[in-house]
Amino acid sequence: MNIIRVKDAQEGGKKAFEVIQEGMNKGVKTFGLATGSTPESLYSTMVASDLDFSDKISVNLDEYVGLSADDDQSYRYFMNSHLFDQKPFKETFVPDGKAADLDAECKRYDQVIEDHPIDIQVLGIGQNGHIGFNEPGTSFDITTHVVALTESTINANKRNFEKVEDVPTHALSMGIGSIMKSKKLILMAFGVEKADAVKGMIEGPVTEELPASILQKHDDVVVIIDEAAASKLK
Ligand code: F6R
Repeated sequence: MNIIRVKDAQEGGKKAFEVIQEGMNKGVKTFGLATGSTPESLYSTMVASDLDFSDKISVNLDEYVGLSADDDQSYRYFMNSHLFDQKPFKETFVPDGKAADLDAECKRYDQVIEDHPIDIQVLGIGQNGHIGFNEPGTSFDITTHVVALTESTINANKRNFEKVEDVPTHALSMGIGSIMKSKKLILMAFGVEKADAVKGMIEGPVTEELPASILQKHDDVVVIIDEAAASKLK
């Protein structure tokens, strides 16, 4: 793992942007993207840049079950408003949280990932060590699946909703098996509430109980963390 320590999320977003820019210079075509507060500084840096993404493809990690693209809490809405509306891509994929048949939607999304192999995957990390919405205990081999969100994740995400009961209980998530097939991974973590997960990811055993620990087995990972997120590392 190449671990880069930064002052704050703003500087972290700029570092991640540099890695993306370097990838673009080498002909990278397909980006795996994440939502949440962590990548916001990366997306604002991308939007402010003069880089052209109009021939690039994006494949997002996850979506809440039950939320449509025009729901302002959906991850499709987040991606459109934070990035795609201002920086158009050739094609963008997000799982369909309103699909009538969720199992069929998982299969369709696996095909999307197979048709568009991810060159650079951007990741955040949950306080419980999840990546995408692969919660603790999820098989490392899994592909796209329906997830029952844990209490930890629902509590962490309730800040975006009026009340905790409004947070969807289920999501569709790209699996760890697919994430690990991406050629390069950029994981960002900012804030003290991520410190335990970051420690487990970098220094702990590789265990399905802390999904991000599998990154120790990937040969091209850039971890970008601020001092607070790094505060429990040896
Ligand atoms: C979101 C995702 C999640 C988040 C994680 C951290 O697409 O895949 O794994 O990256 O929950 O969320 P934030 O960045 O809001 O702390």
